[in-house]
Amino acid sequence: MSVANELHPVIQPGRVAVITGAASGIGKAAALELAKIGLKVAIADVEAAQLAAVGKQLAAIIGDANVLVFPTDVSKIDQVVALRDKVYETWGEVAVLMNNAAIAPKGTSWAGLDNWHKLFDVNVFGVVNVQQTFAPSMLHQENPAVIINTGSKQGITNPPGNAAYNASKAVVKSLTEGLAHELRERPHTNVTAHLFIPGWTWTGMTGANSGACKPAGAWSAEDTVLYMLDHVRSGDFYILVPDNETRKEVDQLRIMWGAADIAEGRPALSRWDKNYKSLFEEYMREGLAQLD
Ligand SMILES: NC(=O)c1ccc[n+]([C@@H]2O[C@H](COP(=O)([O-])OP(=O)(O)OC[C@H]3O[C@@H](n4cnc5c(N)ncnc54)[C@H](O)[C@@H]3O)[C@@H](O)[C@H]2O)c1
Repeated sequence: MSVANELHPVIQPGRVAVITGAASGIGKAAALELAKIGLKVAIADVEAAQLAAVGKQLAAIIGDANVLVFPTDVSKIDQVVALRDKVYETWGEVAVLMNNAAIAPKGTSWAGLDNWHKLFDVNVFGVVNVQQTFAPSMLHQENPAVIINTGSKQGITNPPGNAAYNASKAVVKSLTEGLAHELRERPHTNVTAHLFIPGWTWTGMTGANSGACKPAGAWSAEDTVLYMLDHVRSGDFYILVPDNETRKEVDQLRIMWGAADIAEGRPALSRWDKNYKSLFEEYMREGLAQLD
């Protein structure tokens, strides 16, 4: 961590966080952590009852006046505009915008067309709606601010299984890179963008609602959020989060292998091609041996 917590200009008591998908999982954990630091928190989600319960937990930490519970479907632009208007009317600024809501129904390459539409409406247009609605106001603020978009390793290494979810998260990577560049090029901009790439995190999306215990390989949502906040403080754009099964070096090698599929003209997703299995395994063994 390059910036001491107390010196970071954005993640500070009294400033304002807006978090989508905050009724559960990573979004909820982020809301609670930021409230503990002393930020005012606006939470948005489609699950109104769950959201209200999170609102009560937040109020117990920072008081009712510092919590805004605003049921919102991020795929609906009018609801996102209403969220922004409410936040600016109430508190006049946004320091941390966490664009985190997503769904993961299955859509494969020639099945699940409805799910492709639902996934893109929420995971892609939800993020675009929030970014387009909030960024213009945030750009005019005097104080610095951050936009954190939640991507996924599945949008980078593209593991087989849910092509639609992977594609939606590949779009989030691309649009957040574009956002970061556009912010960087704009004179006197006080807003930075960050691509938050969680590792395997035990949430509703990964089975936590089944009542099963957290698998040893997964991180808790709290651990994932604390790692993310440390790296936002350090100014990192790519916040690639490990878990108990996959350390950072393994992710790095997998990402390099995927990029080399294109550069070296290998088949798509060669990591999962039986003809490349042993080559990939040897690459990982050698890569990790060099690092150890
Ligand atoms: N859990 C993991 O292992 C993991 C890994 C990589 C990325 N992610 C990403 O992390 C983010 C948070 O997911 P999570 O794991 O906490 O899952 P989660 O299901 O607990 O949280 C997602 C939240 O988004 C909400 N949501 C869904 N559609 C919405 C909409 N249209 N408008 C507003 N809110 C909506 C849900 O109600 C839910 O509360 C997602 O972007 C997900 O893709 C999770």
